[in-house]
Amino acid sequence: MKNAGQSSIRRAVPVGIGHYLPSRVVPNSEFEAKVDTTDEWIKSRSGIERRHFAADDEATSDLGINAAKAALKDAGLTPDDIDAVIVATSTPDLTFPSVATMIQSGLGMTRGFAFDVQAVCAGFIYALSTANAYIVSGQASRVLVIGAETFSRIMDWDDRTTSVLFGDGAGALILEAQDAEGTSEDRGVLAVDLHSDGQYRDLLYVDGGVSRTQSTGVLKMEGREVFRHAVEKLAQTAHTALARANLSADDVTWVVPHQANLRIITRTAQKMGVEMDRVIVTVQDHGNTSAASIPLALSTGVAEGKIKKGDLLVAEAIGGGLAWGSAVLRW
Ligand code: UT7
Repeated sequence: MKNAGQSSIRRAVPVGIGHYLPSRVVPNSEFEAKVDTTDEWIKSRSGIERRHFAADDEATSDLGINAAKAALKDAGLTPDDIDAVIVATSTPDLTFPSVATMIQSGLGMTRGFAFDVQAVCAGFIYALSTANAYIVSGQASRVLVIGAETFSRIMDWDDRTTSVLFGDGAGALILEAQDAEGTSEDRGVLAVDLHSDGQYRDLLYVDGGVSRTQSTGVLKMEGREVFRHAVEKLAQTAHTALARANLSADDVTWVVPHQANLRIITRTAQKMGVEMDRVIVTVQDHGNTSAASIPLALSTGVAEGKIKKGDLLVAEAIGGGLAWGSAVLRW
């Protein structure tokens, strides 16, 4: 309840969501011919059954443009209505300019500002947090937040421990400034919790880059160690963000986790005390799409009629850096 004389606050409220997946679907069986693996191993260890791979002429910005168009259509808005485009990606088309500016021009936008955020698999949470800060501070009124990746471009196809896990895709969310009461009943972003610890940077990295090697490189991961950190840190950050919003896990309608591994998703839900029927799971169909995984899961959850207006969502992710975090959002 608002007290007499209490002024309303600005919240970043979701008004549109959309996603895009490249048309090529790659089942686990395709990897059996390339590396020493089985469909059974991939399914039982990760929950992944298939993933999408971008076509040779399809770049990250192309996926992002399609997702953005879907989100604009869902919101009933045009590109002119958007003040800022923030793209979370670790697989940009080029070293520069940003994927965000490419998406901006692809949408025909000539106003506003656009830039990329790079926090690997936690990228969408970081981008959402940045968009929220712009909206709450009054610097922007409508922000298009996109997670878009082509991880198929940075795979070592001879490495069975990584090549079977990742996929390509994009998801887009439009956040709009709306006046709210300032309570946990408000719609919009209610709290965010971000962390990183660079001492763990060797657990998950790409072994090439502009300044160090002048090459693109391929993904390297100590899977077991990343798994251990994920299980330890994800429930903790979700709990912190919920507490910041004066809420608890009992209030959560849907957990929308980063989709890296079904066993991580399940253990995190267990630690949070949330049943799996309140968790959005898409890892079986998308694989790990890094920064695109949460907006893809959000968009899929909405499209399937699971996530509804007024639902309380908590999204959480961890990845290279290590960087991790969570966001509490009332849909
Ligand atoms: O999104 C960013 C964050 N990333 C993650 O969250 C990923 C976190 N890690 C994971 O999801 C899991 O650690 C993996 C799915 C990567 C691996 O699962 P695991 O249960 O931790 O397996 P493991 O690494 O302990 O490997 C078990 C065995 C090993 O053989 P030995 O040493 O026991 O003989 C691996 O060599 O499985 C072997 N192995 C495979 N076997 C068949 C590894 N990859 C494969 C494979 N097919 N593709």
